[in-house]
Amino acid sequence: MLRTANISELRKIIKEEKQRGKTIVLVPSMGYLHRGHLTLIEKAKETGAFVVVSIFVNPLQFGPNEDYARYPRDLERDAQLVEECGVDLLFHPSVEEMYPRPMVTFVEVGQLDKVLCGANRPGHFRGVTTVVSKLFHIVQPDIAFFGQKDYQQYLIIRRMVSDLNLPIEVRGVPIVREKDGLALSSRNVFLSAEQRQEALVLSRSLQEAAELIRRGKQSARDIEDFIRTAIRRDSQGVIDYVEVRDAEDLSEVTEINRQVLIALAVKFGPTRLIDNIVVEVE
Ligand code: PAJ
Repeated sequence: MLRTANISELRKIIKEEKQRGKTIVLVPSMGYLHRGHLTLIEKAKETGAFVVVSIFVNPLQFGPNEDYARYPRDLERDAQLVEECGVDLLFHPSVEEMYPRPMVTFVEVGQLDKVLCGANRPGHFRGVTTVVSKLFHIVQPDIAFFGQKDYQQYLIIRRMVSDLNLPIEVRGVPIVREKDGLALSSRNVFLSAEQRQEALVLSRSLQEAAELIRRGKQSARDIEDFIRTAIRRDSQGVIDYVEVRDAEDLSEVTEINRQVLIALAVKFGPTRLIDNIVVEVE
């Protein structure tokens, strides 16, 4: 496996692969890789293309009171994991390499970035779309993979690619979960045993809510209340949001008569977990 922290070295490698006629696939990540990330990488490998994984904890997408400094990092372990997956190139730039001077240019996807995770994290999605467009310009992939664990992020990236005519196909990968339902996340390591147990209410209540919808429940408010009640009853988690939204454009939903996203964010101590489910309605 090739690895570099240097943008011009990476560009040289990519240019050679493109000259050989290779398709380039990118899997962007912030590292501390788990089975969720590795599933994205497997999907990338299945394309038969030249697979690039980036690992960069992007300071631009963390708010001043968020966990940038304590975000878990272990580059050598990650490098070994991606090598075992057959990744062709690992790109792990430093903050200085990505941001040699303060940024004054940003990429912002309006509207979609103001709701759900964007409402309480101002600037978060601007940080994501800015770094992802930098990565897209640096790596120039034909295809990029994103997980639907971060469903809003996935939609926002798709919209950015469409609005800016970027010649990149964005592919989504369903949420990878532990056997007991907990969505895999780099932040799960911060949970105490008790919080880890209580956090199961998230995936459980989402599943139950989806079942209620499939059985004909149509009120979005009732569904949200059902989940909020379960979380308050079964855990000490502090709800950031629980919302039913249109799965395509995140617009508000009152009556559930089309494909919807049920998304939530809940804090267990300082650790903020997100989860979601997309429900089809016939
Ligand atoms: P990170 O949280 O490291 O996630 C990298 C990718 O892995 C994202 O596309 C995310 O949705 C996906 N992922 C994480 N956990 C998953 C799970 N349990 N199932 C499926 N996919 C999962 O998301 C980011 O990094 C950053 O915002 C980034 C896009 C790299 C920009 O900095």
